[in-house]
Amino acid sequence: MPASGSRLAALNDWVDEVAALTRPDRIHWCDGSDGEYAALVAGMLADGTLIELNQDTHPGCYLHRSDPDDVARVEHLTFVCTRERDDAGPNNHWMAPDEAHAKVDALFEGCMRGRTLYVVPYCMGPIDSPLARCGVEITDSPYVVANMRLMTRTGAAALARIEREGAQGKPFVRGLHSTGELDPDRRFIMHFPEELSIKSYGSGYGGNALLGKKCHALRIASWQARREGWLAEHMLILGLESPEGKTHYVAAAFPSACGKTNLAMLIPPEEYRRKGWKVHTIGDDICWMHPGEDGRLWAINPEAGYFGVAPGTSATTNPNALATIRRDTIFTNVALTADNQPWWEGLDDRVPALDWQGRPYDPANGPAAHPNSRFTVSAKQCPSYSPRAEDARGVPISAIVFGGRRATLMPLVFEARDWAHGVRVGASMGSETTAAATGQTGVMRRDPMAMKPFCGYHFGDYFAHWLSFDRPGAKLPRIFHVNWFRKGSDGRFLWPGFGENMRVLEWIVGRVEGRHAARDSGVGLLPLEGAIVSPDCAADALAAVTGFDETRWPAEQAEIAGHMEAYRERLPAQLG
Ligand code: GDP
Ligand code: PGA
Ligand code: MN
Ligand code: MN
Repeated sequence: MPASGSRLAALNDWVDEVAALTRPDRIHWCDGSDGEYAALVAGMLADGTLIELNQDTHPGCYLHRSDPDDVARVEHLTFVCTRERDDAGPNNHWMAPDEAHAKVDALFEGCMRGRTLYVVPYCMGPIDSPLARCGVEITDSPYVVANMRLMTRTGAAALARIEREGAQGKPFVRGLHSTGELDPDRRFIMHFPEELSIKSYGSGYGGNALLGKKCHALRIASWQARREGWLAEHMLILGLESPEGKTHYVAAAFPSACGKTNLAMLIPPEEYRRKGWKVHTIGDDICWMHPGEDGRLWAINPEAGYFGVAPGTSATTNPNALATIRRDTIFTNVALTADNQPWWEGLDDRVPALDWQGRPYDPANGPAAHPNSRFTVSAKQCPSYSPRAEDARGVPISAIVFGGRRATLMPLVFEARDWAHGVRVGASMGSETTAAATGQTGVMRRDPMAMKPFCGYHFGDYFAHWLSFDRPGAKLPRIFHVNWFRKGSDGRFLWPGFGENMRVLEWIVGRVEGRHAARDSGVGLLPLEGAIVSPDCAADALAAVTGFDETRWPAEQAEIAGHMEAYRERLPAQLG
């Protein structure tokens, strides 16, 4: 059992410390190589963690069936453990750091007996980018190691950067994970932002267990970003190239399962493609934005893969995603066809043979694929993946878009009047809950900047931080709000969405370039009549979805004021 595998004493000491607590049989330092991945997969096929999919249609693709009680993020078991309770804010569950360590260390004690402890060094962001940050995840789950390899830049290059930075006294984020017994009563996702560390026990689900993603790149990074003057956000990043060859980069924050991956991979309608419009994908979930010397916000995608929602993904809704996941993909909790192909609701009209739990498919048991079933895949496989995603400087952001799942009131698109108004729009965001987190779905809740589950500190401080970017010399992006999910009285979506969302993107960059006029309303600046039309949206539906019902605005404003009240103690005056 090699006790040390790195040139960095701090890392070796921590691995030794964790091994003394968790008592693994073996320690494996991950190098991120193809051979290592192949060996992990072979082991998981042998012990049933993975099931081989049809290799003729889906080479290199595997299915993982999770414990049926471990299918989503667990917000009620997720804690931010700051010394001062108020620093975590009313938006987080809080536990005192000493108490949290004691509670979770008791669970970690001896939990890796008979198992292998994997050390996974990773880099969030291009390996040579000054905006990128590193971490090390220790886990006893080969499924987590394999997913981390697809989702982040793992292995030797990351370890070399961690050692180099460590020699200069720069810390790495320490994440400790064990799947434990998968007992929902013995499950905690603990964050210690002041120590730059994470302890996650009792879940193998992506958002709880792939610690580079939500735990590091959002909760810990948002805390660091506030201290260091940047932003860590729950946003996709796309490049929209016009027929003239000019590319605007757009970052958009929608809550989980509200359309980020789909928008990031959008294929424009035929008439746009003919003219030369193109969408380039930079990222589909997380965006780190830093003010540059030119006053603009420069963004990187800290991730290297997609952990996407499977249901609803089809050749008509998201052909780029479908092309991406035809090979070398790990599917979690999808259904199977009779010939062992992955299947989910909305894919096509075949009838699956087995549901996500491996039972013969019976509609009486509910959907065949779990509503939060996922695919994990390297971003490089996406046909629209932008080479600029590897650019160490990042990309300059022209527009920020907020959006939620709102059946009523919120129009298809509007623009904020200025930065401060835009921050207020983001801070007031509402959205109906989805299957990405355990609990009831379809319930309207406030989800500021889509960061309710992910902001590692007090929302009052977070809103103030956002406002602070408006300073002399800043060339800030314009801020917009969209809603693809307005419903008519028949309960159906009014707007066709998906590729048709190109028409909204075109209006947004048109506003940035001063090509489109707008009219003011209570909620913000709306498109003029006829500025956005779609062949798939009838005139009355279009009028309903693009318009704003001023009579319902006072009630919404009163509700927003009630929501802000929770953050009163630290709420900036501009949002009061
Ligand atoms: P993410 O979790 O924010 O990345 O959301 P996804 O892009 O994975 O989408 C989540 C769900 O919303 C999927 O079932 C999609 O098919 C669906 N969806 C995405 N975009 C749209 C849209 O424009 N209109 C409608 N009606 N549904 C959408
Ligand atoms: P999503 O990412 O935003 O793509 O759903 C996972 C999550 O937020 O749990
Ligand atoms: Mn997300
Ligand atoms: Mn997504």
